[in-house]
Amino acid sequence: MCGITGYIGFQEAAPILLGALKKLEYRGYDSAGVAVLGRGQLKVSKAKGDLSVLEERLGREMPEGTLGIGHTRWATHGEPSDVNSHPHVAGRIAVVHNGIIENYRRLKEWLEARNVVFLSDTDTEVIVHLINYHYTNVSGDGGLFGAVREALLQLEGSYALAVVSADFPDRIIAVRKDSPLIVGLGKGEYFLASDVSALLAHTREVCYLEEQEITVLYRDHADFFTGEGERVIRTPVHVDWDTEAAEKGGFEHFMLKEIHEQPRAFTDTLRPRLKRSGTGDYAIDFEEISFDEDETWTTAPRIVITACGTAWHAAMVGKYALEHFTRIPVEVDVASEYRYRNVVFNPKDIFIVVSQSGETADTLAAMRFARKEGARILAITNVVGSTLAREADLVLHTWAGPEIAVASTKAFTSQLICLYLLALKLGRARSRISGNDYRRYLASLEAIPAQAEELLARKEAIQRFASRHFNKSKVFFMGRQFDYAVSLESALKLKEINYTHSEAFAAGELKHGPIALMDRDTLAVTIATQTRLFDKTASNIQEVRSRGASSLVITWDGEHSFDTITDEVFRIPKTEDTFSPLLSVIPAQLFAYYCSVLRGNNPDKPRNLAKSVTVE
Ligand code: F6R
Repeated sequence: MCGITGYIGFQEAAPILLGALKKLEYRGYDSAGVAVLGRGQLKVSKAKGDLSVLEERLGREMPEGTLGIGHTRWATHGEPSDVNSHPHVAGRIAVVHNGIIENYRRLKEWLEARNVVFLSDTDTEVIVHLINYHYTNVSGDGGLFGAVREALLQLEGSYALAVVSADFPDRIIAVRKDSPLIVGLGKGEYFLASDVSALLAHTREVCYLEEQEITVLYRDHADFFTGEGERVIRTPVHVDWDTEAAEKGGFEHFMLKEIHEQPRAFTDTLRPRLKRSGTGDYAIDFEEISFDEDETWTTAPRIVITACGTAWHAAMVGKYALEHFTRIPVEVDVASEYRYRNVVFNPKDIFIVVSQSGETADTLAAMRFARKEGARILAITNVVGSTLAREADLVLHTWAGPEIAVASTKAFTSQLICLYLLALKLGRARSRISGNDYRRYLASLEAIPAQAEELLARKEAIQRFASRHFNKSKVFFMGRQFDYAVSLESALKLKEINYTHSEAFAAGELKHGPIALMDRDTLAVTIATQTRLFDKTASNIQEVRSRGASSLVITWDGEHSFDTITDEVFRIPKTEDTFSPLLSVIPAQLFAYYCSVLRGNNPDKPRNLAKSVTVE
């Protein structure tokens, strides 16, 4: 997730672009850049670091011109650096891009075979070179517009693009596919941004570009075209949001926004890796990891996973999934324990480290310890260029986009996607999964984003439930196996942002102690998605209810095993039992969020907590 912006009009472009980038900075903050066109020349300034670094650089030499484009980056391909920052330039053309070009390696080879020299490690650079290639080499009367359309035919993936050329100082060309892009209409000027929040200082009349729509913005008018090149007439809509609400996409808090971003984060994390052939066969393609060339994957005697907090809960789900699909023993430990434990180490083990930020001190220390012992490290992280990503041997990125709220939501579920893909790929490579089952599992994973959307549409039921229970002094979550891992994560969410005494138990452990805590002031939430264990779980629910606790059960659509023994049931769309955490955690996230708001807390900034714990 990056932010792009553009301006064409009669005012100096640079200050307008910087103002818009400030509003878009929540979408990415590892580098920023602008290209301004003045006196027939494109002036490009870009810098690694947050926007202040670029501002300082520009402060000394603000580029003059009334047309420009800007970008704030959240790195995907290529770590944060000056050279990987946008805009990218080829010839007299500059481009900013939000999204991922999935076939960029192939396009890069295609261009290199035509003597194009690349400067950066980004996927975006292929776009500008493709446009420049078509502009300079392919005869025809299409000019810049035709070259952009030619290039688009070759791109696979998602993009919102803004393109300018020193040869055309009267226009900006912009296009979107699977990434948002909005045109703002002024008088004698047009604005462009990934998010309406960046436009509100200038105009409230906007056009949301449709899928694959192309627009050409001039100073006095704008043209709109479908992906097929048909001209379309667009009527602007009026926006009356305030700026802060707009930054949060209309959600009251970033946490709620990020909970709702999970379907998109699922798609972005899955799509580049899940390949479906014309015959309907699936394959998992990790460009990052080659199973064929590296026998560690097929011979390792054990997998060790280490992480902290929510990422540790993801690791626990990963353990259940990896053991189920691969039959390799998996050990999971919190990084702060692992680093000081007298561990029995085997350098042939697969060592996995999970961290949203890639900067957690204990997690990095555990990784460095394992590295010293000779392990090869696979990192699962959300932040390209983080310390973890740089120091690990292999990296699987979660493409969740920046997570702003302190309580982790979309990063957690994206970590699960990576772990599931790894478990399935490894299980298949070790012949533990048949071809038919593999296809069935991958088809189920592919359906998860739509099922998450369906689930989020049921959020009012959770909101009502929260309004009845937000003041409970004790909330306990219980479940077995995958449901136990989700219980741990659910209890943590409630502790973090509602400051409730909440705990999680493996349901079978209840009678070994925790049942002594159950009374009328207790809410017991049971997560019940492991069908073969339903009878056992039902007994546990009866035990807590007979001690006076209120009971909520989270289970599958169409499942009625618990209807008569619980006060309430919340149902989630049915997927494989093994994939249930991807969906069952969502009601728990929503419950914590609504409880926190009802108590008058700010869920985005819980007391005593920092987003990234970079000290021990
Ligand atoms: C909980 C939460 C924390 C983090 C933990 C690890 O909502 O966000 O528990 O999961 O601090 O952080 P990362 O994943 O950045 O290593």
